[in-house]
Amino acid sequence: MKIAVLPGDGIGPEIIEQAKRVLDALRSDGLPIEMEEAPLGGAAYDQYGQPYPEVTQKLAREADAILLGAVGGPQYDTLDRPLRPERGLLAIRKDLNLFANLRPAILYPELANASTLKPEVVAGLDILIVRELTGDIYFGQPRGVEVRDGERFGFNTMHYTESEIRRIGRVAFEAAMKRNKRVCSVDKMNVLETTQLWRDVMTELAPEYPEVELTHMLVDNAAMQLVKAPKQFDVMVTGNMFGDILSDEASMLTGSIGMLPSASLDANNKGLYEPSHGSAPDIAGKGVANPLATILSAAMMLRYTFNQEQAAQRVENAVKAVLAQGLRTGDIYEPGTKRVGTREMGDAVLAAL
Ligand code: IPM
Ligand code: MG
Repeated sequence: MKIAVLPGDGIGPEIIEQAKRVLDALRSDGLPIEMEEAPLGGAAYDQYGQPYPEVTQKLAREADAILLGAVGGPQYDTLDRPLRPERGLLAIRKDLNLFANLRPAILYPELANASTLKPEVVAGLDILIVRELTGDIYFGQPRGVEVRDGERFGFNTMHYTESEIRRIGRVAFEAAMKRNKRVCSVDKMNVLETTQLWRDVMTELAPEYPEVELTHMLVDNAAMQLVKAPKQFDVMVTGNMFGDILSDEASMLTGSIGMLPSASLDANNKGLYEPSHGSAPDIAGKGVANPLATILSAAMMLRYTFNQEQAAQRVENAVKAVLAQGLRTGDIYEPGTKRVGTREMGDAVLAAL
């Protein structure tokens, strides 16, 4: 079980440290885990002048799975676009063909008050967003800003091939088979031809999964329905850009983005696992960040890449146990609970494990 560990920037190194302790504990219990570190994002730029340098490429390509903290920070905002931390993240996704991004939005009962929505709207929420991650307007050519007819002209290109749509569609249908057997495909077919193709291909795929109910929704309505009645959704599948936006929206339904893991998989279940939150430069280095999303990302890794369902559940149950004990980092703190720092939270998860 070769894991490339990429701490990244901001709170990345602190939260990764706690996930590594959990993986170390599982190794002591017999899992053949090997971890090696390399920089990504701003940390890589500082060291090698590039956000996804060769050392990191080599390690990531050879690994079975990648555990990532987070990338980005204000000190890099003025760099040329190709050198920015975010480019490192986009480059590793593309390089490793990690086309299937799974972003669960789960509301833990203990954290029901963290949501800004009414408890009855979100209680028991369990949505899985399946976002296509290596295509769409994110990577489409041509793109750029140039001068045309005496003024600046900006352009990007949205495109999908039917095979790209089909393979992400399959991921969504298969995920639904293991859940509540409902897939909602999100597009903008009333305006964009590419997404009419998206809807057509999803519809053609549906007969292969007769047990799954497929519905379609326009992205603007989907954004509205997510805050109006989020529990209507089981699996949502959509393209790269709509998925970027809807997954942030869905994560906030739970009120605790510090709790949400994610997986980005290739066709052979090699995967990159990272918390859904960012690098939080404002609290970096203070020892107060919530390590649970990263620890839960390690659990997703055990499940999806290594097929270690039992170990995955052991980690998830340990996280549930510390929540039940009333331990909270600042982001999920409420009166009556015990506020702890990053390392203390890690200690508690290890003890529960
Ligand atoms: C995400 C992030 C990235 C994206 C950025 C950092 C490039 O927002 O993982 O959702 O847009 O995909
Ligand atoms: Mg995003």
